[in-house]
Amino acid sequence: MKVLTIGSMNIDHVYSVDHIVQPGETLTTGGMNIFLGGKGINQSMALAKAGAEVYHSGMIGEDGKMFLDACKKYGVNSDFIRIIDEKTGHTVIQVDKNAQNCILLYGGANQCLSEEFVDDVLSNFEKDDILLLQNEVNLLPYIIDKAYEKGMQIALNPSPFDDKLLACNLSKISIFLLNEIEGWQISGEKEPDAILDTLQKLYPKAKIVLTLGKDGAVYAYENERLKQPIFEVKAVDTTAAGDTFTGYFLAGLIDKMPVADILRMSAKASSIAVTRNGAVESIPYRDEVENELKYSE
Ligand code: RIB
Repeated sequence: MKVLTIGSMNIDHVYSVDHIVQPGETLTTGGMNIFLGGKGINQSMALAKAGAEVYHSGMIGEDGKMFLDACKKYGVNSDFIRIIDEKTGHTVIQVDKNAQNCILLYGGANQCLSEEFVDDVLSNFEKDDILLLQNEVNLLPYIIDKAYEKGMQIALNPSPFDDKLLACNLSKISIFLLNEIEGWQISGEKEPDAILDTLQKLYPKAKIVLTLGKDGAVYAYENERLKQPIFEVKAVDTTAAGDTFTGYFLAGLIDKMPVADILRMSAKASSIAVTRNGAVESIPYRDEVENELKYSE
Protein backbone atom coordinates (compact mmCIF):
# COMPACT_ATOMS: atom_id res chain seq x y z
CA MET A 1 0.00 0.00 0.00
CA LYS A 2 1.42 3.35 -1.07
CA VAL A 3 0.95 6.71 0.60
CA LEU A 4 0.72 9.88 -1.45
CA THR A 5 0.89 13.27 0.22
CA ILE A 6 -0.22 16.20 -1.89
CA GLY A 7 1.00 18.94 0.37
CA SER A 8 3.08 21.95 1.19
CA MET A 9 6.80 22.60 1.25
CA ASN A 10 7.85 25.72 3.16
CA ILE A 11 11.17 27.29 3.94
CA ASP A 12 10.79 27.99 7.67
CA HIS A 13 12.52 31.14 9.00
CA VAL A 14 12.64 30.47 12.71
CA TYR A 15 13.35 33.23 15.25
CA SER A 16 14.00 32.64 18.96
CA VAL A 17 12.09 35.19 20.99
CA ASP A 18 11.46 35.89 24.64
CA HIS A 19 7.71 36.09 23.98
CA ILE A 20 5.49 36.14 20.92
CA VAL A 21 5.49 39.69 19.51
CA GLN A 22 2.44 41.77 20.49
CA PRO A 23 0.46 44.20 18.27
CA GLY A 24 2.39 47.47 17.91
CA GLU A 25 5.54 46.01 19.48
CA THR A 26 9.00 45.80 17.87
CA LEU A 27 10.89 42.87 19.32
CA THR A 28 14.56 42.07 18.88
CA THR A 29 15.04 38.35 18.35
CA GLY A 30 17.68 35.94 19.51
CA GLY A 31 18.93 33.33 17.02
CA MET A 32 17.54 32.86 13.53
CA ASN A 33 17.63 29.57 11.64
CA ILE A 34 16.33 28.40 8.30
CA PHE A 35 14.79 24.93 8.26
CA LEU A 36 12.88 22.79 5.78
CA GLY A 37 9.23 22.57 6.74
CA GLY A 38 5.64 22.71 5.61
CA LYS A 39 2.98 20.45 7.07
CA GLY A 40 2.84 18.35 3.91
CA ILE A 41 6.51 17.51 3.60
CA ASN A 42 6.94 17.17 7.38
CA GLN A 43 4.26 14.48 7.39
CA SER A 44 5.78 12.74 4.36
CA MET A 45 9.15 12.72 6.11
CA ALA A 46 7.63 11.35 9.31
CA LEU A 47 6.01 8.55 7.31
CA ALA A 48 9.28 7.75 5.55
CA LYS A 49 11.32 7.86 8.76
CA ALA A 50 8.72 5.53 10.29
CA GLY A 51 9.32 3.10 7.41
CA ALA A 52 6.36 3.70 5.05
CA GLU A 53 6.54 3.88 1.24
CA VAL A 54 5.67 7.52 0.62
CA TYR A 55 5.37 9.77 -2.42
CA HIS A 56 5.31 13.51 -1.96
CA SER A 57 3.62 15.78 -4.47
CA GLY A 58 3.40 19.55 -4.60
CA MET A 59 5.04 22.59 -6.11
CA ILE A 60 8.18 24.57 -5.35
CA GLY A 61 10.14 27.33 -7.06
CA GLU A 62 13.76 27.25 -8.18
CA ASP A 63 14.61 28.45 -4.65
CA GLY A 64 13.20 25.24 -3.16
CA LYS A 65 15.35 22.58 -4.80
CA MET A 66 16.78 21.57 -1.41
CA PHE A 67 13.48 19.78 -0.80
CA LEU A 68 14.42 17.34 -3.56
CA ASP A 69 17.74 16.63 -1.83
CA ALA A 70 15.95 16.12 1.49
CA CYS A 71 13.48 13.70 -0.11
CA LYS A 72 16.41 11.69 -1.43
CA LYS A 73 18.18 11.78 1.94
CA TYR A 74 15.16 10.63 3.95
CA GLY A 75 13.63 8.19 1.45
CA VAL A 76 10.60 10.11 0.16
CA ASN A 77 9.79 9.65 -3.55
CA SER A 78 9.87 13.11 -5.17
CA ASP A 79 8.78 12.16 -8.73
CA PHE A 80 5.57 14.18 -8.34
CA ILE A 81 7.12 17.43 -7.11
CA ARG A 82 7.00 20.08 -9.84
CA ILE A 83 9.32 23.11 -10.05
CA ILE A 84 7.49 26.19 -11.29
CA ASP A 85 8.18 29.87 -11.88
CA GLU A 86 7.00 31.01 -8.43
CA LYS A 87 8.54 31.49 -5.03
CA THR A 88 8.59 28.43 -2.79
CA GLY A 89 6.24 28.76 0.18
CA HIS A 90 7.81 30.17 3.31
CA THR A 91 7.03 30.89 6.93
CA VAL A 92 8.15 33.24 9.66
CA ILE A 93 8.06 31.31 12.92
CA GLN A 94 8.59 32.73 16.40
CA VAL A 95 9.59 30.22 19.09
CA ASP A 96 9.36 31.60 22.61
CA LYS A 97 11.25 30.62 25.75
CA ASN A 98 8.56 28.04 26.59
CA ALA A 99 9.00 26.41 23.16
CA GLN A 100 5.60 27.66 22.00
CA ASN A 101 5.44 28.92 18.44
CA CYS A 102 3.36 31.08 16.17
CA ILE A 103 3.55 30.92 12.39
CA LEU A 104 3.05 33.37 9.52
CA LEU A 105 2.60 31.44 6.28
CA TYR A 106 3.21 32.65 2.72
CA GLY A 107 1.74 30.03 0.37
CA GLY A 108 3.71 30.82 -2.82
CA ALA A 109 4.09 27.77 -5.08
CA ASN A 110 1.97 25.67 -2.70
CA GLN A 111 -1.07 27.61 -3.91
CA CYS A 112 -0.41 26.99 -7.62
CA LEU A 113 -1.68 23.42 -8.05
CA SER A 114 -3.80 22.91 -11.17
CA GLU A 115 -6.49 20.31 -11.87
CA GLU A 116 -4.36 18.91 -14.70
CA PHE A 117 -1.43 18.44 -12.27
CA VAL A 118 -3.63 16.74 -9.68
CA ASP A 119 -5.18 14.38 -12.29
CA ASP A 120 -1.75 13.49 -13.57
CA VAL A 121 -0.40 12.70 -10.09
CA LEU A 122 -3.47 10.70 -9.01
CA SER A 123 -3.31 8.58 -12.18
CA ASN A 124 -0.26 6.88 -10.63
CA PHE A 125 -2.20 5.63 -7.59
CA GLU A 126 -4.87 3.04 -7.06
CA LYS A 127 -7.87 2.02 -5.02
CA ASP A 128 -6.96 1.61 -1.33
CA ASP A 129 -3.73 3.61 -1.58
CA ILE A 130 -3.72 6.35 1.04
CA LEU A 131 -3.87 10.03 0.19
CA LEU A 132 -2.71 12.35 2.97
CA LEU A 133 -3.78 16.00 2.89
CA GLN A 134 -3.42 19.15 4.97
CA ASN A 135 -4.76 22.62 4.26
CA GLU A 136 -1.65 24.39 2.96
CA VAL A 137 -2.26 23.79 -0.76
CA ASN A 138 -5.06 24.98 -3.06
CA LEU A 139 -7.71 22.76 -4.75
CA LEU A 140 -8.48 20.60 -1.71
CA PRO A 141 -12.16 20.04 -2.67
CA TYR A 142 -11.10 18.90 -6.14
CA ILE A 143 -8.33 16.65 -4.83
CA ILE A 144 -10.67 15.01 -2.31
CA ASP A 145 -13.40 14.38 -4.91
CA LYS A 146 -10.99 12.89 -7.47
CA ALA A 147 -9.19 10.65 -4.96
CA TYR A 148 -12.52 9.45 -3.55
CA GLU A 149 -13.73 8.58 -7.07
CA LYS A 150 -10.65 6.36 -7.41
CA GLY A 151 -11.43 4.62 -4.11
CA MET A 152 -8.36 5.92 -2.31
CA GLN A 153 -8.47 6.19 1.48
CA ILE A 154 -8.18 9.85 2.36
CA ALA A 155 -6.51 11.03 5.57
CA LEU A 156 -6.98 14.70 6.38
CA ASN A 157 -5.12 16.89 8.82
CA PRO A 158 -7.36 19.99 8.56
CA SER A 159 -4.57 22.36 9.46
CA PRO A 160 -4.47 25.30 9.37
CA PHE A 161 -8.27 25.47 9.59
CA ASP A 162 -9.93 28.13 7.45
CA ASP A 163 -13.11 28.63 5.42
CA LYS A 164 -11.66 26.80 2.42
CA LEU A 165 -12.12 23.55 4.33
CA LEU A 166 -15.85 24.16 4.51
CA ALA A 167 -15.98 23.76 0.71
CA CYS A 168 -14.69 20.17 1.05
CA ASN A 169 -16.98 17.17 1.28
CA LEU A 170 -15.59 15.85 4.55
CA SER A 171 -17.82 12.77 4.47
CA LYS A 172 -15.27 11.42 1.94
CA ILE A 173 -12.53 11.41 4.59
CA SER A 174 -11.52 8.05 6.12
CA ILE A 175 -9.15 9.35 8.79
CA PHE A 176 -9.13 12.73 10.52
CA LEU A 177 -6.00 13.77 12.42
CA LEU A 178 -6.60 17.07 14.15
CA ASN A 179 -5.92 19.07 17.27
CA GLU A 180 -8.49 20.37 19.71
CA ILE A 181 -8.60 23.85 18.14
CA GLU A 182 -9.34 22.37 14.71
CA GLY A 183 -11.78 19.98 16.41
CA TRP A 184 -13.59 22.98 17.90
CA GLN A 185 -13.58 24.82 14.57
CA ILE A 186 -15.20 21.86 12.80
CA SER A 187 -17.57 20.65 15.54
CA GLY A 188 -18.34 23.84 17.48
CA GLU A 189 -17.50 21.92 20.70
CA LYS A 190 -14.63 22.61 23.10
CA GLU A 191 -14.46 19.51 25.32
CA PRO A 192 -12.59 16.56 23.78
CA ASP A 193 -15.40 14.04 24.28
CA ALA A 194 -17.97 16.47 22.90
CA ILE A 195 -15.73 17.19 19.89
CA LEU A 196 -15.44 13.47 19.21
CA ASP A 197 -19.17 12.83 19.75
CA THR A 198 -20.05 15.51 17.21
CA LEU A 199 -17.44 14.47 14.67
CA GLN A 200 -18.52 10.84 14.95
CA LYS A 201 -22.15 11.83 14.37
CA LEU A 202 -21.15 13.88 11.33
CA TYR A 203 -18.66 11.35 9.92
CA PRO A 204 -19.61 7.94 11.37
CA LYS A 205 -17.34 5.94 9.06
CA ALA A 206 -14.16 7.89 9.87
CA LYS A 207 -11.37 7.08 12.26
CA ILE A 208 -10.51 10.16 14.31
CA VAL A 209 -7.31 11.07 16.12
CA LEU A 210 -7.64 14.15 18.32
CA THR A 211 -4.41 15.53 19.74
CA LEU A 212 -4.67 17.52 22.96
CA GLY A 213 -1.24 19.08 23.51
CA LYS A 214 -0.07 18.34 27.05
CA ASP A 215 -3.13 16.11 27.59
CA GLY A 216 -2.01 13.64 24.95
CA ALA A 217 -4.29 12.23 22.26
CA VAL A 218 -7.55 10.32 21.89
CA TYR A 219 -8.49 7.90 19.12
CA ALA A 220 -12.14 7.34 18.28
CA TYR A 221 -13.62 4.80 15.90
CA GLU A 222 -17.10 3.31 16.12
CA ASN A 223 -17.57 2.40 19.82
CA GLU A 224 -13.89 2.44 20.70
CA ARG A 225 -12.06 5.34 22.38
CA LEU A 226 -8.41 5.05 23.34
CA LYS A 227 -6.40 7.63 25.25
CA GLN A 228 -2.67 8.19 25.06
CA PRO A 229 -0.83 10.49 27.48
CA ILE A 230 2.25 12.42 26.40
CA PHE A 231 5.80 11.43 27.30
CA GLU A 232 7.15 14.28 29.46
CA VAL A 233 10.27 15.92 28.00
CA LYS A 234 11.98 19.30 28.06
CA ALA A 235 10.71 20.82 24.80
CA VAL A 236 12.79 23.31 22.85
CA ASP A 237 10.63 23.67 19.72
CA THR A 238 7.17 22.22 19.20
CA THR A 239 7.14 22.87 15.43
CA ALA A 240 6.19 19.67 13.56
CA ALA A 241 5.19 17.77 16.71
CA GLY A 242 1.71 17.24 15.25
CA ASP A 243 3.15 16.35 11.85
CA THR A 244 5.38 13.74 13.44
CA PHE A 245 2.38 12.25 15.25
CA THR A 246 0.37 12.16 12.01
CA GLY A 247 3.12 10.46 9.99
CA TYR A 248 3.82 7.87 12.65
CA PHE A 249 0.14 7.17 13.21
CA LEU A 250 -0.46 6.43 9.51
CA ALA A 251 2.70 4.34 9.32
CA GLY A 252 1.43 2.26 12.25
CA LEU A 253 -1.96 1.76 10.57
CA ILE A 254 -0.23 0.62 7.38
CA ASP A 255 1.77 -1.86 9.46
CA LYS A 256 -1.54 -3.07 10.95
CA MET A 257 -0.29 -2.52 14.50
CA PRO A 258 -2.83 -2.47 17.36
CA VAL A 259 -4.07 1.11 17.71
CA ALA A 260 -2.94 1.41 21.34
CA ASP A 261 0.62 0.62 20.21
CA ILE A 262 0.36 3.06 17.30
CA LEU A 263 -0.69 5.84 19.66
CA ARG A 264 2.19 5.08 21.99
CA MET A 265 4.70 5.05 19.15
CA SER A 266 3.33 8.31 17.71
CA ALA A 267 3.42 10.05 21.10
CA LYS A 268 7.00 8.92 21.64
CA ALA A 269 8.05 10.11 18.17
CA SER A 270 6.48 13.55 18.85
CA SER A 271 8.13 13.76 22.24
CA ILE A 272 11.52 13.26 20.60
CA ALA A 273 10.79 15.80 17.83
CA VAL A 274 10.05 18.59 20.33
CA THR A 275 13.47 18.20 21.95
CA ARG A 276 15.06 19.32 18.67
CA ASN A 277 14.91 22.49 16.63
CA GLY A 278 13.33 22.66 13.19
CA ALA A 279 10.74 20.57 11.38
CA VAL A 280 11.94 17.96 8.85
CA GLU A 281 15.25 17.47 10.65
CA SER A 282 13.67 17.13 14.10
CA ILE A 283 11.61 14.04 13.22
CA PRO A 284 13.18 10.85 14.61
CA TYR A 285 13.69 7.55 12.80
CA ARG A 286 11.65 4.49 13.76
CA ASP A 287 14.54 2.60 15.37
CA GLU A 288 15.24 5.52 17.69
CA VAL A 289 11.57 5.71 18.64
CA GLU A 290 11.35 1.97 19.28
CA ASN A 291 14.56 1.97 21.25
CA GLU A 292 13.33 4.76 23.52
CA LEU A 293 9.99 3.02 23.97
CA LYS A 294 11.79 0.04 25.48
CA TYR A 295 12.97 2.26 28.31
CA SER A 296 9.69 4.15 28.85
CA GLU A 297 6.85 3.36 31.24
O1 RIB B 1 3.38 22.06 11.28
C1 RIB B 1 4.56 22.79 11.24
C2 RIB B 1 4.71 23.48 9.93
O2 RIB B 1 3.67 24.42 9.80
C3 RIB B 1 5.98 24.27 9.77
O3 RIB B 1 7.04 23.51 9.27
C4 RIB B 1 5.55 25.42 8.88
O4 RIB B 1 6.09 25.37 7.60
C5 RIB B 1 4.02 25.38 8.86
O5 RIB B 1 3.54 24.95 7.68
